[in-house]
Amino acid sequence: MPERPRILITQKILPDAYPLLQAIGDVEANMDEGVIWSSDELLRRAPGHDYLLSLVTDTIDAKLLEACANTTPRLKMVANMAVGYNNIDVEAAARLGIAVSNTPGVLSDTTADLAFALLLAVARRIPESERFLRAGKFTGWGPLMFCGTDVTGATLGIIGAGRIGQLVAKRASGFDMRVLYHNRHRLAPEVETRYGLTYTKLDDLLRASDFVSLHAPYLPATHHQIGERELELMKSSAFLINTARGPVVDEKALVHALQAGEIAGAGLDVFEREPAVESELLNMENVILVPHIASATYATRTRMATMAARNLVAHALGERPPNLVTP
Ligand code: DGY
Repeated sequence: MPERPRILITQKILPDAYPLLQAIGDVEANMDEGVIWSSDELLRRAPGHDYLLSLVTDTIDAKLLEACANTTPRLKMVANMAVGYNNIDVEAAARLGIAVSNTPGVLSDTTADLAFALLLAVARRIPESERFLRAGKFTGWGPLMFCGTDVTGATLGIIGAGRIGQLVAKRASGFDMRVLYHNRHRLAPEVETRYGLTYTKLDDLLRASDFVSLHAPYLPATHHQIGERELELMKSSAFLINTARGPVVDEKALVHALQAGEIAGAGLDVFEREPAVESELLNMENVILVPHIASATYATRTRMATMAARNLVAHALGERPPNLVTP
């Protein structure tokens, strides 16, 4: 390893991470706010760096990793500034001896807040009624105007009860909700008790819930976890909330379910083919669409950036990065 490793930051991030990296290496960074390098651009720029600090929108596939492994200096690590790392071919990285890290924990509350915000907003028709008011259509209070769905006392189904799912349950307890969950593995009894969670089979959860909130990571096993069959099982009065990953939901099946009235609405932060969104969703009043902002607060994005930087610095100093996802 050269004395000062070469570090590439693929997108403009909040400032606190830069000095941590500049202290140990030579930093090159994309400083064009909002500019996401394409795969070709990454292939042109990344090889020849010891370290990459990447974002969820960067496709770090086997082709890129191989190119980075076959150049001098050889790539040693990808520090992803996200809890999810489905943008990285982790298997290829492991095979090539390239470490990968993520940023768990620091965004859980912020993401749970957004999931709950979407749930409340879609239940109480907030964006829809706001559009109505801004369009100058509010001519007086009406007994039938924008009646929505009660959140207090309703049943929430959480699919994927890890850190974020558990924090959504914590918020739900303030609304006296009954909270069902489905997970790969049943949680320890004390965790179930702490968050008021009842373990439920997936189909039963879908049938019983007034709100279904998705928090599973995107893996081959969760691809289209919510498809035509699952949407049909949901109550016609129920809402789907997705702050996990777009491809966990079959977006075309979701459009169909919404058009057919199989479910009442949806709150979506993530999309199957981001940044593209199924065009039919754009015109649906009962759907809230936000552009993958679940972790977007200044404090959380600062914590994510510095955590990614600290993982990278640890590796460069010969220590074990705290948040490795490769073996
Ligand atoms: C993540 O961290 O995985 C989010 O999707 C981006 O904050």
